[in-house]
Amino acid sequence: MDVKTIGVIGAGTMGRGIAYAAALGGYRTILEDVMPEMLAKATGWIAQAFDEGAKRGKLTPEEAAAAVKRVATASSVEDACREADFLIEAVPEEMELKLELYTLFDKFAKPNAVLASNTSSLSISEMAEMTFRPELCVGMHFFNPVPKMRLIEIVRAAKTSDKTIAACREVGTRMGKEVVVVKESPGFITSRVNALIGNEAFAMLEAGLASAEDIDKAVKLGLNHPMGPFEMVDLVGLDVRLRILEYLHETLGEKYRPNELLKKLVAEGRLGRKTGRGVYEYGQEGRDKS
Ligand SMILES: NC(=O)c1ccc[n+]([C@@H]2O[C@H](COP(=O)([O-])OP(=O)(O)OC[C@H]3O[C@@H](n4cnc5c(N)ncnc54)[C@H](O)[C@@H]3O)[C@@H](O)[C@H]2O)c1
Repeated sequence: MDVKTIGVIGAGTMGRGIAYAAALGGYRTILEDVMPEMLAKATGWIAQAFDEGAKRGKLTPEEAAAAVKRVATASSVEDACREADFLIEAVPEEMELKLELYTLFDKFAKPNAVLASNTSSLSISEMAEMTFRPELCVGMHFFNPVPKMRLIEIVRAAKTSDKTIAACREVGTRMGKEVVVVKESPGFITSRVNALIGNEAFAMLEAGLASAEDIDKAVKLGLNHPMGPFEMVDLVGLDVRLRILEYLHETLGEKYRPNELLKKLVAEGRLGRKTGRGVYEYGQEGRDKS
């Protein structure tokens, strides 16, 4: 599959990062969003990210300028589809929206274009059913912030072809990422492992076995994780983690039952860094105390 142009639909947190990675990988990149102001913000953000990359010596100023030039915007999904050999959607996590988009992809995309979704949890197979080309439908799960995070989980849905997986591997690698392939299943690899580690840490804290600081320290220094489970959940959001656990509990069973202390903190509005208080408290200078 000869991929020259990547279309990215949705220019929010993830879409703009994915467009940055695509342009960095040498692809002509077309970014589209229903909200023109999001598109303008995203192109500004991408230009600044390349500028900073050049300042840090990640690429030369000439390479940065060339990469910025590779990014164009489109004013409709139809226009983005016309040119793209590989489409990645990063619209909000609502199935209705994704299904509408896959219907448009099927109608307007080139016959051999890969139709990828950046969904964190929704069924790619269900999206693929909206099209007459389910073999080209696949998950490309990027991580936030995209420029810094090295992994992409490639999600193989029920009818995804080997050729599509190979195209995703190539695109991911050219974007400078490491890739893994996982069969479609709740939480893929990363959210599933992470949810269990986080839940276990809450169970230990609830039982009074150790302080939050010591649990984080043990996991960082003893297991070589870059962040402790409480530092991580405060960053992700306790509400987001609770929703993931509820979903995994519903779909995969008892071992994912959300911990009661986590539920209590969410009910109290202690959602993490974004509310100034999660497991830890955050002042203007960062973390104060637990
Ligand atoms: N934020 C994360 O940490 C993260 C990580 C991995 C995966 N994801 C997944 O990525 C996807 C996007 O998440 P996000 O955090 O970037 O969301 P976001 O809300 O920051 O951005 C979504 C963008 O999509 C646009 N949009 C809405 N409907 C559209 C449509 N019909 N056509 C075109 N654009 C449309 C919105 O205007 C917005 O700019 C979700 O599926 C999410 O689950 C998010």
